[in-house]
Amino acid sequence: MKRCDLSRRRSLASLLTLAASPLAPLARAQETTLDDLINVHEFEDFCKKKLHKLAYDFIAGGVEDEQTLRANREAFAKVFVVPRFMRDVSQVDTSSTILGVPMPAPIIIAPTGGKNLVLPDADEIVARAAVATKTPLCTATGVSKLLEEGAPLQWWSNTIGSPTRASAVTYARRIEDSGGKGIVLTIDNAYQSNRDRNNRNKFDYGYMQTGVPKPGETRAPRMPAKPAMWGPHTPNMTWEYIGWLREGSKIPVIVKGVLSPEDAALAVQHGAHAIVVSNHGGRQLDGAPATLTVLPEVAQAVNGRIPVLMDGGIRRGIDIVKAIAMGADAVLIGRAPLWGLGAFGQPGVERVLWMLGAECKLAMALAGAANLAALRKLKVKVIP
Ligand SMILES: Cc1cc2nc3c(=O)[nH]c(=O)nc-3n(C[C@H](O)[C@H](O)[C@H](O)COP(=O)(O)O)c2cc1C
Repeated sequence: MKRCDLSRRRSLASLLTLAASPLAPLARAQETTLDDLINVHEFEDFCKKKLHKLAYDFIAGGVEDEQTLRANREAFAKVFVVPRFMRDVSQVDTSSTILGVPMPAPIIIAPTGGKNLVLPDADEIVARAAVATKTPLCTATGVSKLLEEGAPLQWWSNTIGSPTRASAVTYARRIEDSGGKGIVLTIDNAYQSNRDRNNRNKFDYGYMQTGVPKPGETRAPRMPAKPAMWGPHTPNMTWEYIGWLREGSKIPVIVKGVLSPEDAALAVQHGAHAIVVSNHGGRQLDGAPATLTVLPEVAQAVNGRIPVLMDGGIRRGIDIVKAIAMGADAVLIGRAPLWGLGAFGQPGVERVLWMLGAECKLAMALAGAANLAALRKLKVKVIP
């Protein structure tokens, strides 16, 4: 017998002995556990190894050259918070209420389609994590069981619009009747965008509902991703759509996708109850500006008339602190909870939400802001 065979057999034998021995937990501890992942970046790294490449790329990716996707993160690296000291930060309060929705931390789960690429029934799993952590949730699907159960879910529905006034009115009425606390109207999704990663992977948008095919499984194509495919969603939607939603219900309309002071002013003028400064996480127009860079001018245009939310690139509590110091009332997070979901299901989502809230609270304490009002008064330095 060759030496290497012998040593391989010995190590296999010792592994088998270990598995049956009281030291087995030690061996299992070598596997990654929830506690091993100490920040959102590590959750993403773990998902990159664990998820199917099609699923990972669908979530992580942006559009075309991913300039906007990168810019969202780079913008945070150019902002520095000027801390204030000798203030009592023995208690730090991160809570607030926006449009009647209480939130323990200024964090809202953003709408993200395609969660079933990660796990079956993933929207419901994320909704359960939202309830467990008292985090407001934006989603178009996955909440019906929780609503039936009477779970204390703070839920804003999400739509990219529908073609007619009648359908908008009916939609708004249905969401209000089923317990929605608001409607998030996404305005930057007139067409299906051109996502190179999906095109390269021969992704099928049908997988967003069904998940990625198992090895050896063949499926008829439903909506294959193709370069520069001309796929209209709601190309004829204009500002009057807000009024149509308001006609159908009394719940607030939150306009998501604002990137300019002009559109912010129009959103207010047409009756929006809040806006989200967003570029869809770099997934619609490549070359759109990083959200953090336009946030101050948008917030200035709104001038406190309605809440200003923002998203894009939030991976750390300090990112939330920067966004609020620069004019946001709260942030939405898109990919971060999905990395929690992909890593460890509902406990993973809860951990990511807890982690971001805890990091935010600690960063506020270290910056000398005992509550969100104090945080809004902090100054930032932006390097060009
Ligand atoms: C996988 C995925 C799916 C998304 N689906 C939607 C959607 O259906 N509607 C929408 O308004 N935004 C959608 N977004 C954008 C998010 O709501 C949010 O604007 C963005 O993810 C924020 O950036 P972040 O991922 O860096 O936090 C999606 C984002 C991701 C990553």
